[in-house]
Amino acid sequence: MSYTLNDFEPLITRAKLDERLDQLGVEIVAGLDRGPEHLVVVGVLKGALVFMADLIRRLPPTITCDFLRLSSYEGTESTGTVRFDFDLTQPIKDKDVLIVEDIVDTGLTMSFLLKALEVRGPRSIKLCTLLHKPARTKRDVPIAHLGFTIPDRFVIGYGLDYEGRYRNLDHIAALRPV
Ligand code: IMP
Ligand code: MG
Repeated sequence: MSYTLNDFEPLITRAKLDERLDQLGVEIVAGLDRGPEHLVVVGVLKGALVFMADLIRRLPPTITCDFLRLSSYEGTESTGTVRFDFDLTQPIKDKDVLIVEDIVDTGLTMSFLLKALEVRGPRSIKLCTLLHKPARTKRDVPIAHLGFTIPDRFVIGYGLDYEGRYRNLDHIAALRPV
């Protein structure tokens, strides 16, 4: 079974995304307990690409950015086997780290990443995710900043893909119920 764009319907409009991102920017800055120059915004590629680009333009100009990429393996859902495809370019010791992710689904990926980064000695580490599907939680992860809670539906757009496509859709769309 393969889907096309026609099988999806709008779930979160561009206007709703913009409005929520404005609020998230304010929320993140208010939650900092040191200057933004200590903040490293870490984007999890590829899904966080669009969200992160829009989010960092709501943050003070002295933040820094870095990226990493994780790959999950066949059977990840049951085992939580996740690996670094590529890693950060800078140490995060004594930094305030803000992980930016597209979606927390089962929580396995973020649970792995939080543990993997915590051992590097950041001063603080927080997770900001655009979407959360609580119905599918297998591992609880602390979400400091959340865009939207969504129902248990497969979504695309604004960075999220279906078989590598539709990341550049400017809003979030969900697979139509059958
Ligand atoms: P996890 O299940 O929380 O470990 O999520 C793993 C990854 O699966 C997320 O970072 C997304 O990249 C991807 N993912 C989960 N749900 C969706 C979805 O509805 N659409 C597209 N990608 C998804
Ligand atoms: Mg992801």
